[in-house]
Amino acid sequence: MLNKEHNEARQGEAFASDVNKESFSKYFYIESYGCAMNFADSEVVASILENNGFGSTRQIELADLILLNTCSIREKAEQTVRKRLTEFRKLKHEKPGLLVGVLGCMAERLKSKLLEEEKLVDLVVGPDAYRTLPDLIMEAGTGQKAVNVLLSRDETYADIAPVRLDSNGISAFVSITRGCNNMCSFCVVPFTRGRERSRDAFSIVAECRQLFEEGYKEVTLLGQNVDSYYWNNPETNTSTTFAMLLENVALISPTLRVRFSTSHPKDITDEVLFTMVKYDNICKYIHLPVQSGSTRVLQLMNRTYTREWYLSKVARIKEIMPTCSISADIIAGFCTETEEDHQDTLSIMQAAQYDYCYMYFYSERPGTLAAKRYIDDIPEEIKKRRLQEIVDVQWTLSNESNKRDVGKIVEVLIEGDSKKSSQHWMGRTSQNKVVVFPKLNHTIKKGDYVEVVIHDFTKGTLLGELKNN
Ligand code: SAH
Ligand code: SF4
Ligand code: F3S
Repeated sequence: MLNKEHNEARQGEAFASDVNKESFSKYFYIESYGCAMNFADSEVVASILENNGFGSTRQIELADLILLNTCSIREKAEQTVRKRLTEFRKLKHEKPGLLVGVLGCMAERLKSKLLEEEKLVDLVVGPDAYRTLPDLIMEAGTGQKAVNVLLSRDETYADIAPVRLDSNGISAFVSITRGCNNMCSFCVVPFTRGRERSRDAFSIVAECRQLFEEGYKEVTLLGQNVDSYYWNNPETNTSTTFAMLLENVALISPTLRVRFSTSHPKDITDEVLFTMVKYDNICKYIHLPVQSGSTRVLQLMNRTYTREWYLSKVARIKEIMPTCSISADIIAGFCTETEEDHQDTLSIMQAAQYDYCYMYFYSERPGTLAAKRYIDDIPEEIKKRRLQEIVDVQWTLSNESNKRDVGKIVEVLIEGDSKKSSQHWMGRTSQNKVVVFPKLNHTIKKGDYVEVVIHDFTKGTLLGELKNN
């Protein structure tokens, strides 16, 4: 989901704001792993902790409390966290009383087992239990092991104003749903995040408006399946669909860009597509995970669409919005996948002409439907070879997509300096492509919209210069 680099692109990135200006008696340090929703949750956690006397710090040695907000989506994601935990041993030794907490999906999946397996951990808190963190910290402070992994049917943290961590001040994530009601057979999320629930529409619009007033220029609405957003106002008994919510957020200002992630191919409606067309500030980019190009495998995955149905959805998007870019998630080597199924995946990528893809090989997750029903029978070397073929196809497709942009004039929202040079700006197009261009004109600044002429590209980046410069 999302960008900002959605999913594992941001894994392992430290994610904490500088020591707060107000003086706190205690400090916490938080790192987030996994999807954008986890990063958004860390901002809710920061808010809860700041209201209870804990300031945030990005200097781990200053922290009284270290938190890892974890991901369980693939085995590797969990291994990364376990490795990170061992690195805290020395810190704990040097600073008696230092508490280490595991939050998020691994906490939910492993529950108190995590305390047995990882002796260093003092706190285990699932994604729906963050309001109880202050109590749990107190409990852990007395030497007890503190655990709360209760899932909720209605917790959305709607009333909590997230404290933006490590923000560029331009783009922010806003959660609109939690949990997932789909049962994709490979996926651990329904078990770690619980039932799907939609957040109060007023609180979402209010949060986005507040961000805009603070100078933010882009919001990304987050959910595992945003198109199934559905909120019923108990006072008026009227309901808000995702398309309506999107429109209400877009109406805040034409200079506030609106993005969303993730769209499930079975749920994205024409109504959403037409709302995207109606507002220039709704970005023309859809993340539409396909997972596999084989109808037989899709069925085993319980994705509830066929190859043809998926391709007709892509065609519909292109028909309504010819300039819309599309990205996908793909899993290589799911249970029973044959060479022919794999070829179907390669060919659906060609047919869909993805601008970008997030690609993984299948990692069996305990407790999922696939783990219960099917044998993880594709040898690792075959999974990896197929994944490499998928990566190669996408490399060509992304190159072709970038080539098509050469010569175009694109509108770019400037996010900050380019990673490689402070003499260059970095920003994104509506289609979510990264653009780098020389600063030259000193009057423009971060958060401005500028027109850039594209003249070249490197892997993953369009290169250009300001129009009329
Ligand atoms: N809600 C989103 C995806 C969330 S997980 C959706 O429905 O598309 C992000 C991606 O991780 C998935 O799209 C899938 O491609 C990948 N993924 C999930 N479980 C996986 C597993 N067990 N092994 C490998 N990749 C997996
Ligand atoms: Fe997982 Fe499927 Fe839900 Fe996405 S839609 S979170 S892949 S179960
Ligand atoms: Fe996200 Fe990973 Fe949990 S992808 S929902 S943090 S399992």
